[in-house]
Amino acid sequence: MKRIGLHISGRGSNMLSLLDAMDRGEIPARCAVVLSNVPGAPGLQRAEERGIETAVVDHRESASREEHDRKMLQVLVEQGVQIVCLAGYMRILSPVLVRAFEGRLLNIHPALLPSFPGLHVQRQALDHGVRFSGCTVHFVDEKVDHGPILLQAVVPILPGDDEGSLSHRILQYEHRLYPLALKFLCEGKIALHKGKAEIRMEPEEYRSALRELVDTGEEP
Ligand code: GRF
Repeated sequence: MKRIGLHISGRGSNMLSLLDAMDRGEIPARCAVVLSNVPGAPGLQRAEERGIETAVVDHRESASREEHDRKMLQVLVEQGVQIVCLAGYMRILSPVLVRAFEGRLLNIHPALLPSFPGLHVQRQALDHGVRFSGCTVHFVDEKVDHGPILLQAVVPILPGDDEGSLSHRILQYEHRLYPLALKFLCEGKIALHKGKAEIRMEPEEYRSALRELVDTGEEP
């Protein structure tokens, strides 16, 4: 069983989808700690209600990004964390964490990277007029919303979509994608190799995972 650290800054719906999948036994892992840089982040309470260990490292109490990340790293080490998942964690990481967890540090982003990194990405996708968006789970490197891609889910943009409706549909797929990506990482079926996330499973298993990750735009 891998020990997972989850970093959040807000509501924590992706955190909950990961906790649920671990509880159901779908991922060979358990959550060692939920860490937030924001005291009072709603997700913290949701984690506590489930009896999960939580910690707050308020970034405003550190003079630099590095100092903040060193404090975060200390908690992760104390809790024996082996893999870190950023789940709505709104801080840019310094090399302190990125290097300590190379190949073991994931992020989820609500667009098909490398298109639309940054903030308000559903708005950006709508403004650009792309026909498909979706979400991406990637290894974290030292650039924002950048790094080798483990898996993506594809969500069409439908006539009449606005930022709210598109965000909602993408979020449903985030909640499928992140548990699957973490499962594959824990099982060694996706691993960082020579700067890419290498798929190490039989084609049939991979194809069947992909079928779960494409929204065909049909009425539910
Ligand atoms: C998600 O859309 C995630 O992709 C992005 O931030 C949002 C966090 O939502 N990085 P939640 O806190 O997981 O509900």
